[in-house]
Amino acid sequence: MKPSANTIRVWDPIVRIGHWALVLSFFVAYFTEDDFLTQHVWAGYAVGAIVCIRLAWGFIGSEHARFSDFVRSPAATLRYLGDLMGHRARHYIGHNPAGGAMIVALLIGLSGTVYSGLMLYAIEEDSGPLAGWVAQDNTATVLPAIISTARADDDDRESRNGEGESGEEFWEETHEVFANLLLLLIALHVAGVIYSSYVEKENLPKAMITGRKRID
Ligand code: HEM
Repeated sequence: MKPSANTIRVWDPIVRIGHWALVLSFFVAYFTEDDFLTQHVWAGYAVGAIVCIRLAWGFIGSEHARFSDFVRSPAATLRYLGDLMGHRARHYIGHNPAGGAMIVALLIGLSGTVYSGLMLYAIEEDSGPLAGWVAQDNTATVLPAIISTARADDDDRESRNGEGESGEEFWEETHEVFANLLLLLIALHVAGVIYSSYVEKENLPKAMITGRKRID
């Protein structure tokens, strides 16, 4: 189908394919966490690989894929959110400032989830790319134990009798916290996309498929 004349190409294939592959991998990882470890781990590797590619693409990619194009100051982001609430937000060709802030938060959340998952896999199963490092460097397990003991000291003076969480528990909890935080961010992300599509009068999910957006 011929693209309409008043649209331009904004999202390159790395951004588009990367986005939908990320959505798929994230949900496969999320729904396989308990009973299908192999599938969970491979979906997690896919998420990690996509995030690494996207981070590099943020520096060397096409115009609107670069962080310099969409990462704005907190003040500019708040101003945009105010305009969005007042239905007077301007139309952006690339990511709008709120979308940019959400993308940074999602990439940090995804990185934290993948890293804590790799640590957990190394400690619990002695597998994965960090297994050798974890086996050699016990700061990976001792440090969380120290943090947990300090936290237990703060929380409850009575829990000093060596009951601190092990490195395994620490990374398990960290992995779960990151995954749940991500779910919250994703819900906000999708709500933001729907609301921005309505205010900016442009179907943003469709643009993430076709790569094209309207020019004013
Ligand atoms: C069905 C659910 C989803 C829809 C409809 C959706 C839609 C979109 C849209 C329209 C954009 C572009 C926003 C803009 O125009 O500024 C975007 C960007 C993005 N979304 Fe989603 N999204 C969904 C789920 C997710 C999930 C589950 C994740 C992460 C696990 C995610 C991560 C991202 C990231 C990282 C970007 C930035 C894309 C880039 O610049 O490479 N999205 N999403």
